Amino acid sequence: MGNFVEGQLVSIAFIVFILGFIYQGVQFFKLTKKKEWVFPPSPIETEPKKKTAEQWITQCLHSLNGTLWSTDRVLTVATSIFHVCLIAAPLFLLAHNILLDQSWGWSLFSLPESLADFLTVIVLICGAYFVGRRLFLARVRAISSIYDYVILLIAVAPFLTGFLAYHQWWDYKTVIFLHILTGEIMLITLPFTKLGHMLFFFLYRFFIGSEYSFVRGSRTW
Ligand code: HEM
Ligand code: HEM
Repeated sequence: MGNFVEGQLVSIAFIVFILGFIYQGVQFFKLTKKKEWVFPPSPIETEPKKKTAEQWITQCLHSLNGTLWSTDRVLTVATSIFHVCLIAAPLFLLAHNILLDQSWGWSLFSLPESLADFLTVIVLICGAYFVGRRLFLARVRAISSIYDYVILLIAVAPFLTGFLAYHQWWDYKTVIFLHILTGEIMLITLPFTKLGHMLFFFLYRFFIGSEYSFVRGSRTW
């Protein structure tokens, strides 16, 4: 069991992660079709005139109206910091890069260990804040289900166990086993749960035109 989790399952998890997202991307294009305009967009809309820097800034600030920024600034800042740390910490972690180098012969750039540890703590604090909101804010509690807590747990568990392993708290062998297992659970569930927003966020906002999309959108359901 231990050997499997620390051995083959690592490769299986990465393969499921990659193939899972490729599958979801293909499904998205199969389930949507090219948008046909009943009233084609006017040339003014399709070929916007060149804007000055000032006009761009004003437009960007204006487009923040009606987004999360105008309803909850603390959450906007927390979720932005959470996501940057969540991606940067594991990707640019020395320990992970050493493992990558050993198995593939290449690795990414590594942050100083103390900085990666700090980013990990930030992820944990933001995770605690998200759980707190769901538990204590009535309007958030009303729309939270067990699924939301499970997703948060899946996202935060590798950081908690990675942190404990790095600081060698408790029994190292058990902690690193749990770390690898929770990391694998995250990788395997990413394409098939709400965590798939890692890909869908971009697909929806760039391809499907809607209130929150960044562009007009060229596809429709
Ligand atoms: C699935 C395969 C994985 C393996 C084999 C693995 C292995 C490791 C190892 C060996 C360490 C160092 C522990 C030490 O210093 O003794 C570590 C730390 C860490 N891992 Fe992973 N890991 C995996 C997945 C993940 C995932 C998916 C994430 C998060 C998305 C993650 C986040 C972290 C973090 C944040 C730390 C460092 C915590 C700190 O320095 O405070 N790991 N990992
Ligand atoms: C890389 C692109 C990603 C983008 C653009 C993105 C974007 C977003 C957005 C817009 C939200 C909603 C705002 C909020 O409720 O905080 C959100 C929430 C969330 N994201 Fe991501 N995300 C990405 C990747 C990830 C990854 C890789 C994970 C975890 C493995 C993750 C975990 C979460 C969690 C747990 C929440 C909900 C927090 C809560 O319960 O309130 N995200 N994300």
